[in-house]
Amino acid sequence: MKPAFNVRQQSEVYIGSAAEILPELLPQGRVVVVSDATIDRLYHPLLAKYDSVLIGTGESIKTLQTVETLYRRFIELGVDRSTFVLGIGGGIVTDVAGFAASTYMRGLPFGFISTTLLGQVDASVGGKNGVNVDGYKNMAGTFTQPQFVVCDPSLLRSLPDREFRAGLAEVVKAAIIADADLFGRIEQTSFETLRTDTDLLSDVISAAIRVKADIVEYDEKESGERRKLNLGHTLAHAIEKSSNRMNHGEAVAVGTALIAGAAVKLGVLKEEERQRIAEVLSRLGFDLTPPVEIKRLLKEVGKDKKNEDGMLRIVLPVGIGDCEVRKMAPAEFAALFA
Ligand SMILES: NC(=O)c1ccc[n+]([C@@H]2O[C@H](COP(=O)([O-])OP(=O)(O)OC[C@H]3O[C@@H](n4cnc5c(N)ncnc54)[C@H](O)[C@@H]3O)[C@@H](O)[C@H]2O)c1
Ligand SMILES: [Zn+2]
Repeated sequence: MKPAFNVRQQSEVYIGSAAEILPELLPQGRVVVVSDATIDRLYHPLLAKYDSVLIGTGESIKTLQTVETLYRRFIELGVDRSTFVLGIGGGIVTDVAGFAASTYMRGLPFGFISTTLLGQVDASVGGKNGVNVDGYKNMAGTFTQPQFVVCDPSLLRSLPDREFRAGLAEVVKAAIIADADLFGRIEQTSFETLRTDTDLLSDVISAAIRVKADIVEYDEKESGERRKLNLGHTLAHAIEKSSNRMNHGEAVAVGTALIAGAAVKLGVLKEEERQRIAEVLSRLGFDLTPPVEIKRLLKEVGKDKKNEDGMLRIVLPVGIGDCEVRKMAPAEFAALFA
């Protein structure tokens, strides 16, 4: 089986059956699986052959404490530099497993089976991993490419609608950033069709990964182009920090709709394009009302620990399939929502 993508000649991304592809990818030596209890319950046969370490679920466990628990279990299991770490799960599992693997004993080889739509189109691909610190998102982590990522669309059948939808937010994001054709295809389909039509879904997953893989190809460490992948994320992170009502994808949908409004105000996006963005997200079932007052979100944005020299890097859609990154003072950004 040939990979669909080979990111930076380091990380092969496969779209297809995990059970078929995995045996060809795993090295001969020892494999230790990192996963969560939900995956273990649903896909036990995939894990059963290996020693496994299960972590909890939810954004609140994406912490250094969880990573430390993994290190301890690795020590107990006698994991060494010759062990391969296989993360099986959604973005939380792959972010934590990738971080633990890339730092334990200064780095073990690792790969992923991505089991959520959000993980397949975004979190598992690109080599960023990490954890939150005091609720600030992804404050500690590394850029280390997984040797492989397997995206198996059939694993998404067991995903709850809400989690599936969350992944669609990152698909729409990718489409707005760089793929007008993908955006058009999503406009012409429905949530139900995407849920049930595996061929269509595979195409959509592939197109969304292509957007990310192309960008990571020439900016792995986020010095420029890669920032574009943060479209909608400045406000999304503020939403996640100030409310636990929304998951990551739901917050991204709100953040994307809000930033499209700001882009219209700045005169870089046409009102009809903003409407198309809001409509496609609403039709997929997203609630685009911020769960907390915008004023509170903007305060949170100003405090974001990732601001450089006190300046924000805001990704503005400048059309469907095109965006630009603009440096802005927090006050200037806040004024766009006055
Ligand atoms: N590293 C990156 O580049 C990157 C990019 C985007 C997002 N992320 C991170 O990804 C995280 C979100 O990931 P997520 O949306 O995959 O959430 P998640 O990992 O929390 O998974 C969602 C839930 O679905 C369950 N689940 C997973 N696979 C399932 C399946 N096949 N069937 C049934 N249930 C299943 C999980 O147990 C979990 O309860 C966030 O922390 C976000 O910051 C990272
Ligand atoms: Zn995201």
